[in-house]
Amino acid sequence: MSPTTVHVDQQPAATALRSKDLLGIADLTPDEINLILDTADVMKEVGSRPIKKVPALRGKTVVNLFFEPSTRTRTSFEIAEKRLSADTLNIAIATSSVVKGETLADTALNLEAMQPDMIVLRHSSSGACHLLSRICRSAIINAGDGMHEHPTQALLDAFTIRERKKQLKGLKVAIIGDLLHSRVLRSNILLLTKMGADVWVCGPPTMMPTDVRRFGVSATSNVEQAVRDADVIMMLRIQLERMEGAYFPSLREYFNVFGMTEARMTLAKPDVMIMHPGPMNRGVEIASEVADGPYSVILDQVANGVAVRMAVLYLLAGGAEHEEAA
Ligand code: CP
Repeated sequence: MSPTTVHVDQQPAATALRSKDLLGIADLTPDEINLILDTADVMKEVGSRPIKKVPALRGKTVVNLFFEPSTRTRTSFEIAEKRLSADTLNIAIATSSVVKGETLADTALNLEAMQPDMIVLRHSSSGACHLLSRICRSAIINAGDGMHEHPTQALLDAFTIRERKKQLKGLKVAIIGDLLHSRVLRSNILLLTKMGADVWVCGPPTMMPTDVRRFGVSATSNVEQAVRDADVIMMLRIQLERMEGAYFPSLREYFNVFGMTEARMTLAKPDVMIMHPGPMNRGVEIASEVADGPYSVILDQVANGVAVRMAVLYLLAGGAEHEEAA
């Protein structure tokens, strides 16, 4: 590979993404998912070079528009954009005209007037990215919309699993926690079932979506059943900010019944991977000894987020085709 450019040497079945946007995992085929993960392998190598920069998105402008708080997603998108040499713009919502009542659509159309190429959007409303996709020429990348999807999180989770386990097909993946409010859950279910994993979801009955089994997963409120012989345990954050009522008696009670402890982990496969998308509620959904222990890949997930987001940005910009035309 050239020191300055990125080329995907072994082309998988899909060679490009069909859509101009990444709105959700629901729209991706297994081939497209593999294309993103294979491209992320190449991007990860860029991140290990002394000079972590390639000119793939030179001349492209990317706007990061985050209406909800974020540490990992916003930072890793910005790093990914800079590693690809894009011009990046972070809109600070608190000092924008959103506080004067400007709508999402008007905000986006006004930003579009300045000719960006891509808009990375996080918003509290499910479907906000679909709205922008309809009215914007720019590529729209979903960085989390309400309780709907968080596609790049599921892609980086899949990348992290594949890196360790070599494949996703046939793995038992137990996803445990606040199932009701989680866009990470929805994107992971869609991705992992498309790729042939055996997905189990587990949480209190009050937080179990009624229709979850129609997505092809096994569902239980018995955490031991979910964890037994699991290859991967993915803990989900209790999203207190999205809860209006009480879904369980207390945080202590929740930890006692559903929290991931070293004792519970022993039921899983000996080489189990412990995952969490972050931010974590330590001592609520996960014990610190597990989060910081030898089976945890939580910080690997964060590191891989940069490579996966570079892959998404690169492919949406047209991949190698765009580079050759430049
Ligand atoms: N996993 C995740 O989306 O984290 P942030 O909210 O910090 O971006």
